[in-house]
Amino acid sequence: MNVNCHISGLGVSVPEHTLTNQDLEKIMDTSDEWIVTRTGIKNRHIVQDNENISDYAFLAAVKAMDEAKITPSQITHLLVATCTPETLSPSMSCIIAQKLGLSSYSGLQLISPNSQSLVCFDFNAACSGFVYGLELARAFLALNTDAVILLITAECLSRRMNYQDRTTSVLFGDAAGACIIQAKGNALFHVLDVSIGADGDYKDLIRIGGGTDKKVQVGDSISEDFFLAMQGREVFKQAVRGMEQESLKLLQKNNLGVEDIDLFIAHQANLRIIEAVRERLGLSEEKVFTNLEKYGNTSATSILLAMAEAREQGLFKTGQKTLLTAFGAGLTWGSALLSS
Ligand code: COA
Repeated sequence: MNVNCHISGLGVSVPEHTLTNQDLEKIMDTSDEWIVTRTGIKNRHIVQDNENISDYAFLAAVKAMDEAKITPSQITHLLVATCTPETLSPSMSCIIAQKLGLSSYSGLQLISPNSQSLVCFDFNAACSGFVYGLELARAFLALNTDAVILLITAECLSRRMNYQDRTTSVLFGDAAGACIIQAKGNALFHVLDVSIGADGDYKDLIRIGGGTDKKVQVGDSISEDFFLAMQGREVFKQAVRGMEQESLKLLQKNNLGVEDIDLFIAHQANLRIIEAVRERLGLSEEKVFTNLEKYGNTSATSILLAMAEAREQGLFKTGQKTLLTAFGAGLTWGSALLSS
């Protein structure tokens, strides 16, 4: 379906505190050389004990709203992509809405039947969250062309890392991103099309526990299940396959070839995964933007974080096409086509 959908403001925010490969060498049996060779990651940003990722989501949202020249009262939808919410309930979106001062009600005033109340909810598509969010935004815009959507990605993976497990804890970092999505107003990027998918048969490949599947009582100690666990090799294979196939499907659907793509931004999980997808798609190296060496895998935020830096570097030229692709726990995946 052809939906008029564009991004009119974008912001990202990362914690100041860093965790370098050298820091990790001091707390586990690993090496900078191993991490860089296998993943490309050199550093991550992680929240400190007195911080929460919603603090950073707030900052990212303010930047996005400022750029789009949108005031809090104009926001109709606040959607948060996260697999690491601060609480099971309330949702991160309600927590962030309160910080931003968004509200549907003013006292007991009667609301006009035609006014759009603020819609707030979280969704969990893990690392595919941003691309899933673009599709959700398109759906809301198809229902209401006046919608002003604040799409936030807020991930605090460090609070679900088992730093005794070197196979996963070296990979992830924390970060938040935000963008304003509308059918009207100034466009930084037009969202031309999105294609998303999932397969629950692979649900056990990446898992974060701590939900309601296990009975717990006050005083119980935390088990390993609370932390992120992953079958890295199998995830690697499925990530390459999923991102390649969804990207080709999206290009085909839009009568485009790989040669029509000017910039390629994949979920920033692992340089070797991105390189394998690039090779299979037949894209040239200079069309690929990465910044995972500085942040690690920031899950749903990673694409926004890369887009923000690519923009700072002037890589989005007017009229050019960008292909985004992501992959995550679930398993979930998705690709999006933007023009700038
Ligand atoms: N430091 C040093 N050695 C490590 C290590 C670390 N941080 N982590 C694992 N190793 C060791 C293993 O114990 C193993 O040792 P062994 O051969 O003595 O048993 C060896 O390195 C190879 O482990 P393996 O798991 O086969 O490595 P790999 O080449 O598959 O790389 C990943 C591991 C996790 C980097 C890789 O599988 C990967 O990136 N997978 C995708 C993960 C991902 O991106 N997930 C998020 C998707 S959204």
